[in-house]
Amino acid sequence: MRPARNVRGAVSLPGDKSISHRYAMLAALAEGKSRLENYSSGADCASTLACLRLLGVKWERIDDAHNVIEVRGNGPSLAAPEQSLDCGNSGSTIRMLSGIVAAQNFSCEMTGDKSLSRRPMERIVTPLNAMGAKITSRNGCPPLRVTGSSLRGIHYRIPVASAQVKTCLLLAGLLAEGETIIEEPLRTRDHGEVALRAFGAELDRQKNQVRIRGGQRLRAIVAGVPGDISSAAFFLCAAALFPDSQLTIPNLLMNPTRARLLDILSQLGLRISVTQLDEVQGEPVGTLQAQGNRLKGATIAGADAAALIDEIPVLAAIAPFSEEGIEVRDAKELRVKESDRVASIAANLRTMGAQVEERQDGLKIPGGQTLHGAEIESFGDHRIAMAFSIAALRAQGETLIRGSECGRISYPAFFSTLETLLER
Ligand code: S3P
Repeated sequence: MRPARNVRGAVSLPGDKSISHRYAMLAALAEGKSRLENYSSGADCASTLACLRLLGVKWERIDDAHNVIEVRGNGPSLAAPEQSLDCGNSGSTIRMLSGIVAAQNFSCEMTGDKSLSRRPMERIVTPLNAMGAKITSRNGCPPLRVTGSSLRGIHYRIPVASAQVKTCLLLAGLLAEGETIIEEPLRTRDHGEVALRAFGAELDRQKNQVRIRGGQRLRAIVAGVPGDISSAAFFLCAAALFPDSQLTIPNLLMNPTRARLLDILSQLGLRISVTQLDEVQGEPVGTLQAQGNRLKGATIAGADAAALIDEIPVLAAIAPFSEEGIEVRDAKELRVKESDRVASIAANLRTMGAQVEERQDGLKIPGGQTLHGAEIESFGDHRIAMAFSIAALRAQGETLIRGSECGRISYPAFFSTLETLLER
């Protein structure tokens, strides 16, 4: 990656990863044929589709240029898979799909790659077993051996803020007998709730509590997946690095449980406006326009740390170029993502010559620093590879990102798209 002088242009993003997973899973459980347009092109969402195929769900890619898929719903009962469900690198696939598999009348194994095999699963195993499933893990990590059963509704307080766990339990609750009540410690992304409603389910939400009645039938939908705001974060942070930058992103997801990024970027100095606000299947979308400015500083802590968990790598990567630096607290979940992201960020920033203080639950990165290009590691983590390609734009000299092909996990066309926006 060579340094750049400016960022200018317009970019359309692949469909949001969180929404794509949920639409695919719900389409599988619905009655009728769903058509999903702008389905995420990332390998993670392909892992969800591959697992669904092994579970007897028929789907096909209709139009590769626009990422259109059609999914023929099976209704609530899926078929016993003849092999393990390989969830690849995808925490969303294994955690959310386990809520569906746990309610089936068969046993199966859920596996993943090396990174996924290190990620904590007791957060879904404990409540699903309390609902009547029998799931065993290897020391709390994949592979999971799932013996499905008829589940009973549960009233459960989720100990860690996790939308994957919430959605897992909503899916299990949908297929269970009776009512399921889930309380979360703080409000996480609500795509599970929004998507369930789009497919015709009724849910009741009050503050941080959501209730779902089991046995509801879903009906197929036709939907376009809004552009992924977590992928947009890389281009927006690139724009934030250059005072003369100009960036337009149409059809971008504007769900308030995800849009905290826009507040932080505004606080950092980026000038943002949103037009053509619309709603698609309950999800707000809009056209975003961003213009560069000074890059000030920010602190990300408390509920913001959870709301920005996927965007912290790139915010941290641009922090040395800000005036006042960026401090991240209360983000120990970063350590159990696709890599230990606190350690990955700190290691790469240091390799590029930055000063950074690594803490158990975050990082403190002073501003006003000069970085030099270097050979850095992706640690097999898509968001780390993409984040440091953005830092490289303002570094002195070239940067080599080892293992950058992991970008395909969420955004296969990321590096080529970024090039189209750069002025050198
Ligand atoms: C996601 C929730 C978050 C996020 C992940 C996607 C989702 O994970 O980091 O990329 O789609 O629900 P947690 O639920 O572990 O916080």
